Amino acid sequence: MKIGAPKEIFEGEARVAMTPDSALQLQKLGHECFVEAGAGHAAGFDDAAYEAAGVTVMKTAPALFKEVDFVVKVRPPIDTELKRLKAGQTLISFFYPAQNEKLLKAAEKTGANVIAMDMVPRISRAQKMDALSSMANIAGYRAVIEAGNNFGRFFTGQVTAAGKVPPAKVLIVGAGVAGLAAIGASTSLGAITYAFDVRPEVAEQIESMGAEFVYLDFEEQQTDGAATGGYAAPSSPEFREAQLKKFRELAPEVDIVITTALIPGRDAPVLWTKDMVEAMKPGSVIVDLAAERGGNCELTKMDEKVVTDNRVTIIGFTDFPSRMATQASTLYSNNIRHMMTDLTPGKDGVVNHNMEDDVIRGATVAHQGAITFPPPPPKIAAIAAQKPKEKAPELTPEERKAQEHAKFVAATKQQVGILAIGTLVLMLVGSVAPASFMAHFIVFALACFVGFQVIWNVSHSLHTPLMAVTNAISGIVILGALLQVGSGSWLVMVLAAISVLIASVNIVGGFLVTRRMLAMFQKS
Ligand code: NAI
Repeated sequence: MKIGAPKEIFEGEARVAMTPDSALQLQKLGHECFVEAGAGHAAGFDDAAYEAAGVTVMKTAPALFKEVDFVVKVRPPIDTELKRLKAGQTLISFFYPAQNEKLLKAAEKTGANVIAMDMVPRISRAQKMDALSSMANIAGYRAVIEAGNNFGRFFTGQVTAAGKVPPAKVLIVGAGVAGLAAIGASTSLGAITYAFDVRPEVAEQIESMGAEFVYLDFEEQQTDGAATGGYAAPSSPEFREAQLKKFRELAPEVDIVITTALIPGRDAPVLWTKDMVEAMKPGSVIVDLAAERGGNCELTKMDEKVVTDNRVTIIGFTDFPSRMATQASTLYSNNIRHMMTDLTPGKDGVVNHNMEDDVIRGATVAHQGAITFPPPPPKIAAIAAQKPKEKAPELTPEERKAQEHAKFVAATKQQVGILAIGTLVLMLVGSVAPASFMAHFIVFALACFVGFQVIWNVSHSLHTPLMAVTNAISGIVILGALLQVGSGSWLVMVLAAISVLIASVNIVGGFLVTRRMLAMFQKS
């Protein structure tokens, strides 16, 4: 089949749906690749790079549409592009059929098939085609960079000769794909990061990324995402009130707020109200990723950056992926390439538009002259959401004391048991082994015991398991060598001294490395 990517017409759109790399992969599937002249220029891919990858560069868009069987695009088509589509041709692009009913009807009339990349179901097998996630990932990252660019301070705390700099406090509302990417970028820049989501199952993910989950003082069983296609369900008015109360408490404290909260097919919920903006410190920044659907912040203006009277910057850009066009095009073209892989099961250039396949069916919104949207629910459930960890029940002081006592008794019993077994083994070995062997054996056993005890009582956060083991061995070596260093033989003395030296270097070096590692995670 012939696959072609036209230049995006939407003003300011820098992405392209096919890159030289993705074209190479498409050719491996047996397809021929075409691109409109200059289509990849804004994303950093010039025509020569396409030609070098075996892609035919077409002078104009009409010529490209005429030539190819598959048109691959980023933005939904506009009228002129729709007019160029013909029956039997397939268009793959973002389409948003629920919000673009008119466009869908117009596409139906052309008789072309339409695969909407935004309709790829969120099931494990389809992750490689999930273009919404690829773009949201970029948007989350870019939101942090954009916030940093508009924020007058460091993200990380520092102690410098010129003074102490406190770390920035970042709140991320909505921990979906964009939110998690923002958490990753924010924590890696060293900011103290808080995150909130209505889906309790994401708390663990948030915490594993080094951010703090903002818990609400509210009892409501939220649905897990698996029941709603991997997305959240709307929350009750009471829950929303509790959420806003918490945000009001946080507003004067946080420096940067990144909002990503959205339930597909609905307007964005307003979660950061005017009074919260007014309560923020001057110089604070809000990046509202949900700007396209009305915004999570009451004062957001779509595609604009506004600065309020109290000097809070609110960014409502909706083109973050396009602002990182090279990266976005690479990921998006890979998503399309994976879609084409599923459409070409024989890798022989022959397309099988299999409407029995969950992913292909889910994404196809028009097929053979008929609208096929909305699709039936996928046979496989959305990526299973994990149940939140059961919180350990709170213990009273008496219960805690009893628990500690029980632990102590168990540990003592264990130690006495080990000692008894050790003594028995020594007696058994002693009854058969020569006295000279026994002297060395007892030293060895004691060295093991003392080395183990030395390490065992060090707090786990202070050493890695590897260091614990090597230090234990070094401890044993030092003990053994000290016992031998006074020996009459000069050879034994030299060897024992070298052992003490090397083992000491190992122990001291281990502590120095640990110190440096801990310093990397320390906030001033
Ligand atoms: P997602 O569906 O993966 O994540 C949205 C998250 O918001 C979910 O975890 C959901 O549980 C949470 N949420 C819903 N209602 C909430 C509430 N009331 N309070 C707290 N959390 C709530 O969506 P994804 O892919 O992460 O996208 C996030 C946003 O970013 C969307 O609005 C999307 O349109 C936008 N986006 C913006 C771009 C831009 O350039 N500005 C580019 C790409 C995406």
